[in-house]
Amino acid sequence: MTCDPRHALSEKDGALCIEQVPLNQIASQFGTPCYVYSAATLRTQYQQLAQALSPMNARIHYSVKANSNLSILALFKDLGAGFDIVSGGELSRVLTVGGDPADVIFSGVGKSVEEIDLALKVGIGCFNVESHGELSRIEARAQLAQVRAPVSIRVNPNVDAKTHPYISTGLKSNKFGVDAASALTLYGHAASSRTLYITGVDCHIGSQIADDGPLLEALDSILELVDSLEERGISLEHINLGGGFGVRYQDEVAMDLDAYGARLQQRLGSRSNLLCVEPGRSLTANAGLLLTQVEYLKTAQDGSKGFAVVDAAMNDLLRPSLYQAWHDVVVVNPPDKTTLAQTWDIVGPICESSDFLAKDRQLSLDEESLIAILSSGAYGMSLASNYNTRGRAAEVLVDGTEVKCIRRRETIQDQLRFELPL
Ligand code: LLP
Repeated sequence: MTCDPRHALSEKDGALCIEQVPLNQIASQFGTPCYVYSAATLRTQYQQLAQALSPMNARIHYSVKANSNLSILALFKDLGAGFDIVSGGELSRVLTVGGDPADVIFSGVGKSVEEIDLALKVGIGCFNVESHGELSRIEARAQLAQVRAPVSIRVNPNVDAKTHPYISTGLKSNKFGVDAASALTLYGHAASSRTLYITGVDCHIGSQIADDGPLLEALDSILELVDSLEERGISLEHINLGGGFGVRYQDEVAMDLDAYGARLQQRLGSRSNLLCVEPGRSLTANAGLLLTQVEYLKTAQDGSKGFAVVDAAMNDLLRPSLYQAWHDVVVVNPPDKTTLAQTWDIVGPICESSDFLAKDRQLSLDEESLIAILSSGAYGMSLASNYNTRGRAAEVLVDGTEVKCIRRRETIQDQLRFELPL
């Protein structure tokens, strides 16, 4: 049995527990598949980052897309976080938990008229503007609403974040942000507008970044731009460096946040701008796991390995299929010692060969096995779908000895109610 304090897992009286609660008890009470989160880990991750940034005038905006459950948002709000959002839907979630819209940063390349109108109406803290067209649209909508729109330009510094290509966002070839020269032009326009007001500059170069080198390289080019703006009489309230701090899934070394904080401080020197960051994964990934039950065991026709067909699938946790992501696998109730370990693929019931949660794992399993797929707290449930008309999993939050269902399992009625009869 693996005990891993990284995930708030430990063994008590022979049972694998998250915080104080046995995982098999959670499975019996709420069924499987089920996402389970540790409130203590969420708090610790937040506080460690806050501590690393504390020597500076800094603010954490939790990136809602990583895990947008209302209870998780409420937990971060109570810890003092602002939010980073990418849709009107995410904005509504933040408002639902009583988040202050002034503490919300609206990112994303494709903000619709409706989303911009909603953000202006509630008094969004800042739009991270990603193109000339978007700046014009925000200006026009703000004029119509007779309000002023707070804007910050997202700069793409052309820095390689050295991460999976699907989650790399800071290269010239990516759709995000604008280059520094275009940013100067956009700032010039915003400065001369009576409807727009400039709040800051923004940059996010990717996700699951292993070391802070690329982040600091991006900061250097942002600071050059900040200085050029100062020379033109444009001063910024904040510098937003985005998220992307890498975590440990397998054998990676998680980014050293204290060292990063110290290097940021050194680079920022005596500047008075507020420093903003937008972490998602680093706050939630290792705070969550996906509990799933084995349905059947079968052997590959070539005899090379076994397939453990479980009740969770790629619709519940897409990361392995989409990014070839690794998630550690733990058997919650190992069979007796006579069952030998062998090589298993953990696969779901979906009709695709890409439907796997883990490949080639040495495990002792039987058909009663309850399995935990670790490090699933970020981009797990938020990427889930109803593919194969599967209801999405339940979500449970554990806090010490307390267990709370924070999203009930979807029923077939939930899915069918959107569809209209012929
Ligand atoms: N800010 C912006 C503008 C972003 O686009 C993102 C993530 C973040 C902040 C938060 O980044 P984080 O701290 O979580 O790395 N689905 C992928 C990850 C996609 C990340 C998209 N943007 C995965 O499962 O690995």
